[in-house]
Amino acid sequence: MNRINKADILNAYEWRHACKEFKADSKISQEDFEFLLHIVSLSPSSFGMQPYEVFVLQNEDLLKELHPHMWGAKKQLFSASHILMFAVKKDITRNDKYFEHIMVDVQDTPLDVRDMRRDLIEEYQKTEINMLEDHKHLSDWAAKQAYIALGNLMSSAALLGIDSCPIEGFLAEEVTKVLVKNKVFDADKYAVAAFCCLGHRLNSPAREKTRKPITELVRYI
Ligand SMILES: Cc1cc2nc3c(=O)[nH]c(=O)nc-3n(C[C@H](O)[C@H](O)[C@H](O)COP(=O)(O)O)c2cc1C
Repeated sequence: MNRINKADILNAYEWRHACKEFKADSKISQEDFEFLLHIVSLSPSSFGMQPYEVFVLQNEDLLKELHPHMWGAKKQLFSASHILMFAVKKDITRNDKYFEHIMVDVQDTPLDVRDMRRDLIEEYQKTEINMLEDHKHLSDWAAKQAYIALGNLMSSAALLGIDSCPIEGFLAEEVTKVLVKNKVFDADKYAVAAFCCLGHRLNSPAREKTRKPITELVRYI
């Protein structure tokens, strides 16, 4: 593994900001975009379940319908080069086909340990995720995994000099209605976690980055 220069990493993290408007005519190359999707796919997830999918929103009419319900993306939505939507799978449990697909086809889990693994994950979902109390806890858990991928996406984009903005500023119910109406997904199976716009900044950030001191962030115990 080649080490990356710390100054280069720091520079990218300081350069990254939540971009409010992109240069509308400045597109990310297909190669860079596919590279970033590869980064997303390499992101870690609990039990390796990758309980989310990334939708690349390319349809202008769909964006127009979504726009009124996305107050956090007023300028980003029509100026970004690429818009990604992280949608989580709502109900991944041992009885779910997707669960089996990941365990068997993707992870190639040996036959003799599959039941043990099913039990382990189910036990975790019952005790730690509290899925029996409310199945929504399962999609919240899935969203946590999606956010890791979102973070990796934005950091890697910055390392490539690509701007981004994570978008949580949307009305989930309205956005879901639009997506269902347009047959993007089945709301019984999917829920939107977050969006991410990518592109090249139109303007420099309006203000300096603000962060609490690391002494307030970290406690040694
Ligand atoms: C999960 C998440 C959701 C966010 N949603 C929005 C959003 O809807 N619209 C927006 O302009 N910024 C959004 N932001 C950006 C934050 O406001 C921003 O990251 C924070 O103020 C720190 O600024 P910086 O990223 O420029 O350093 C979001 C950030 C995160 C992590």
